[in-house]
Amino acid sequence: MSKAIIEVKQITKHFKAKAVVDQVDFKVYEGEIFGLIGPNGAGKSTLLKMIGGLIFPSSGEISLFNTKMRGNHAYFERMGLLIEEPGIFPHYSAYKNLDLMAISYGLTDRKKYINELLNLVGLGDVDRIKVKNFSMGMKQRLGIAIALIGSPDVLILDEPINGLDPQGISEIRKLIQELNKKGITIIISSHILEELSKVATRYVILNHGKVVENISKKELFLQFEERVELEVEELKQAIPILERHLNIQKYKVMNEHSIYIYDNHVKNQQIIKILTENGIVIHSLTKHKQSLEDYFLKRTGSGGESHD
Ligand SMILES: Nc1ncnc2c1ncn2[C@@H]1O[C@H](COP(=O)(O)OP(=O)(O)OP(=O)(O)O)[C@@H](O)[C@H]1O
Ligand SMILES: [Mg+2]
Repeated sequence: MSKAIIEVKQITKHFKAKAVVDQVDFKVYEGEIFGLIGPNGAGKSTLLKMIGGLIFPSSGEISLFNTKMRGNHAYFERMGLLIEEPGIFPHYSAYKNLDLMAISYGLTDRKKYINELLNLVGLGDVDRIKVKNFSMGMKQRLGIAIALIGSPDVLILDEPINGLDPQGISEIRKLIQELNKKGITIIISSHILEELSKVATRYVILNHGKVVENISKKELFLQFEERVELEVEELKQAIPILERHLNIQKYKVMNEHSIYIYDNHVKNQQIIKILTENGIVIHSLTKHKQSLEDYFLKRTGSGGESHD
């Protein structure tokens, strides 16, 4: 497993008496596209601002490569941020905006660097257009380009696909994947799990300031595979029967009585028949299918999953 690049330990942020981010713990591993998901007001931007060093936690600690954030200048140099509205000058071109930012970073030989950045984010051919005439997608690309100045190791993107049309979403997604291939670890937030599901490799769901789920892409997608949830009295005896008679191979034992079966060639009636014939007592058997949306709503407290 790769190294943890960022470690968030017991982070809390109070605004007045309210804990808007509440004892949050997680690690971001090098090379990941880390998805932070939560409904409006969950605390995503507040958490990302703390990781980006824009505001400080009320308590807890954040480290980058095992070095604590406080007082560590190298920390901020290794971060690129696009959080809420990027500071863009609307009457200037994308090039000029990037140039001003590059100057503030003390970069020399800027022309080549900026043109490469513009090409990388897909704004290479719009140099004459003032930013005030940019589409939403173009502004987001410029925001990402600004965040990339200084060649950060970690890029924090707060809702970069908010308000974009499907074409724009897909383009930003491709850009994020491209940047990730170049070795940049990416932290990206959204209030729609579906949007992040196509790009992130790990997901943390935040609700009312608390982490309610921390799950890898593989684990997440297992949740959506159609499965049969079976509960029996004598599971130890039932498993070899299912394997032998119904050729069931893809399953997960959940506890001493229940098992999830993912082999979709098997029908419920076949399972009932073979188990009863062999004297196994069935407590319950349900087919389970869940959408990403159901899954998210269930974890953020406003919905349920569907059984049939
Ligand atoms: N500076 C502040 N002072 C007081 N309360 C704040 C401040 N910043 C954020 N909050 C509150 O903290 C909570 C979390 O806000 P935050 O912006 O982090 O949520 P979010 O998950 O980013 O939401 P959204 O999806 O709407 O962007 C909200 O209830 C918000 O009103
Ligand atoms: Mg926000």
